[in-house]
Amino acid sequence: MTEHVTVSRDGEIAIVTLDNPPVNALSFHLREPLGKALEALRDDEAVRGVVIACAGATFIAGADITEFNTPKATASPNLRELIVLLESFEKPTVAAIHGTAFGGGLELAMGCHFRVADRNARFGLPEVKLGLLPGAGGTLRLPRLIGPLKALTVIVSGNPIGARDALAEGLVEAVYDDSLVANAVAFAREQADKATALVPVSRREDKIAEAKNDLDTFDAGVAALLKKKRGLDAPRLCAQSVRNGLTMPFDEALAQERAYFVELVEGEQSRAQRHLFFAEREAAKVPGVGKEVEPREVRRAGVIGAGTMGGGIAMSFLNGGIPVTILEMDREALDRGIARMDGNYAISVKRGSLTEEAKAKRMGLLTGTTDYADLADCDLIIEAVFEEMAIKKEVFGKLDAVAKPGAILASNTSYLDVDEIAASTSRPSDVVGLHFFSPANIMRLLEIVRGRKTAPDVLKTALAVARKIAKVPVVVGVCHGFVGNRMLASRSAELEDLLLEGATPEQVDKVFTDFGWPMGPFAMGDLAGLDIGWRNRKSLGKTAAIADALCEQGRFGQKTGKGFYIYEAGSRTPTPDPEVAALIEEKAREKGVNRRDISAEEIAERTMYPMINEGAKILQEGIASRASDVDIVWVNGYGFPIGKGGPMFWAESEGLGKIVERLEHWHGRTGKAVFEPAELLREAADSGSLAAARKGKAA
Ligand code: 3HC
Ligand code: NAI
Repeated sequence: MTEHVTVSRDGEIAIVTLDNPPVNALSFHLREPLGKALEALRDDEAVRGVVIACAGATFIAGADITEFNTPKATASPNLRELIVLLESFEKPTVAAIHGTAFGGGLELAMGCHFRVADRNARFGLPEVKLGLLPGAGGTLRLPRLIGPLKALTVIVSGNPIGARDALAEGLVEAVYDDSLVANAVAFAREQADKATALVPVSRREDKIAEAKNDLDTFDAGVAALLKKKRGLDAPRLCAQSVRNGLTMPFDEALAQERAYFVELVEGEQSRAQRHLFFAEREAAKVPGVGKEVEPREVRRAGVIGAGTMGGGIAMSFLNGGIPVTILEMDREALDRGIARMDGNYAISVKRGSLTEEAKAKRMGLLTGTTDYADLADCDLIIEAVFEEMAIKKEVFGKLDAVAKPGAILASNTSYLDVDEIAASTSRPSDVVGLHFFSPANIMRLLEIVRGRKTAPDVLKTALAVARKIAKVPVVVGVCHGFVGNRMLASRSAELEDLLLEGATPEQVDKVFTDFGWPMGPFAMGDLAGLDIGWRNRKSLGKTAAIADALCEQGRFGQKTGKGFYIYEAGSRTPTPDPEVAALIEEKAREKGVNRRDISAEEIAERTMYPMINEGAKILQEGIASRASDVDIVWVNGYGFPIGKGGPMFWAESEGLGKIVERLEHWHGRTGKAVFEPAELLREAADSGSLAAARKGKAA
């Protein structure tokens, strides 16, 4: 018995309790005493059954991620050895699961003969989200409990299933409303009294028999599951490992699974994804907002403007179970906005991802109004009206008059100065930016814009609410475009010139998709609508020779069937258009630009390096607190490939010195400010670490 593992007895049933806060990860200091305890119990003839349970908020949440790539990760007894030990028991072993049984935790539970659970328990193999595969038999045992394709769905998505589903699929034998451990002991006693032979999961064949005889159906299912996972190694190896379980003897497949795990854990993608796991948790820790700061309560949210963003923001709150009052300028706009939300939910019902009852419940939490007085009982009000300072100020003036004391007033502005908006109210400390991304009900990123006067408990509330509505929050400072859109502008600055100098839209887009982005910038522009940027440029007195000319011809992108590309009727597939090529050449001639061949390398350097450079400037100015916060913004808001860990993480592996050198090259050649290396980037080039350079600055 140690502080991490205690063994108690209830008659002839032993209860092993694991206690390794905060999530009972399988650290070496837990595995070692657990191994000793299990060996003793296996050999103790007075013990007729064993229950494994956990203290604290959860069952085992997995291997200890902080031990990866250290000697402790593999030190004996490792998890595989513990599971072999469990499977050698000739008396029933029962995992009693509450909270989450994730990764290695679920693998350990599958090493037991039986699993019983609290009704709120969740089960998952989230390793794929860390760029890994379950490395202790998970890809082989889960199929033997719930069937190979269902198992692979769980493994490749990394998403958990609830206790009710786990019971229905055969992953657990019983679910209890309360008294989990007492019920587990009774269950173990019942099993010990039975004369039936105990079969370890690794020796069960019934759930995989069908797939073994019909690999074609299995392979077709795999192909469908892997469709959206292109470029990532982990999902591919997960699928291969599950397949090995159908074609190889168990122990051989297990050895192969281990080899895949080792390959992945040492690879760049998993390193990047593990960085993102910790970065996401780090982002929740905000300088100046300590543990002692209490969040305000948010029982009802208000949303102003039921347009593209307002509707999506309202849906995010409804999805999180928070009632919403939504306000529009007039009845017609309100009805239109609400009908669009209803329609979006109807699509989910049609697709089978939402039930009619759930839809009705969510829409039942929504109240529409055109009267500001109806916002008086809202605890948080988010403005999502047109992007114009004068209108925003007018709206905040009205809010100031009706909102109750302590209500948080937020703006979804993409670019405008949150401090100026706050100053138009009598309560600037209650004002904050909450910058959602489109479509707001789907995209996970939330930039929380901290104004000069924003109160710490307002930030704490914003972070807590974000979590409740399943967003990934990052606190950023006030500047034009905040972190994401500001860096996007730098990434886009050279696009027109690249075309004029000789690149084609498809060539540029290919550099982006080859890198791992879901789409290149020109295909993206066509999807979002080129008219948005056109209108924006006009209001700022700016021009873009090629994009403006396309818009003047009514080529707004996919919605008009033509943009930088041409789209066959109803198709979303971009096809290069000779008319666009001719237009580009004509504009180049007009401007006297000599066209030449442009390499993929040059395209990458002139788009992605300025983006990194802007990120460094953002860090230098303290707009973002950490390089990893910038990574979280880009991975969750702009589709930066997760296998590369975000722009700043990627920049370090690309080599900061090389980036500075190439920026200087382009700066010398063009004199453009986007290429002028940030001071912080130059300093970081020496140490190779942005975080270290940032710390040096702060100190
Ligand atoms: N190892 C080490 N630390 C972990 C951890 C793990 N597996 N899981 C969570 N933590 C840490 C977090 O970093 C955080 O630390 P901090 O307080 O210092 O920031 C703390 O535990 C609490 O975590 P959360 O803030 O995420 O707490 P929540 O209550 O929101 O969520 C959870 C709990 C659902 C368990 C969530 O932490 C989670 O999903 N954890 C990851 C689970 C996972 O990926 N498991 C697979 C590991 S790989 C594996 O098992 C390999 C095997 O197949 C061989
Ligand atoms: P939108 O034009 O689709 O919707 C704006 C809505 O606000 C309209 O329905 C309009 O009737 C309503 N409205 C205007 N003035 C109002 C007032 N005084 N009172 C009540 N309602 C009023 O615009 P969209 O795209 O939803 O943008 C809204 C805000 O969100 C802008 O600040 C924009 O910059 C920001 N944003 C937009 C994103 C996008 O991708 N569309 C992404 C992130 C932020």
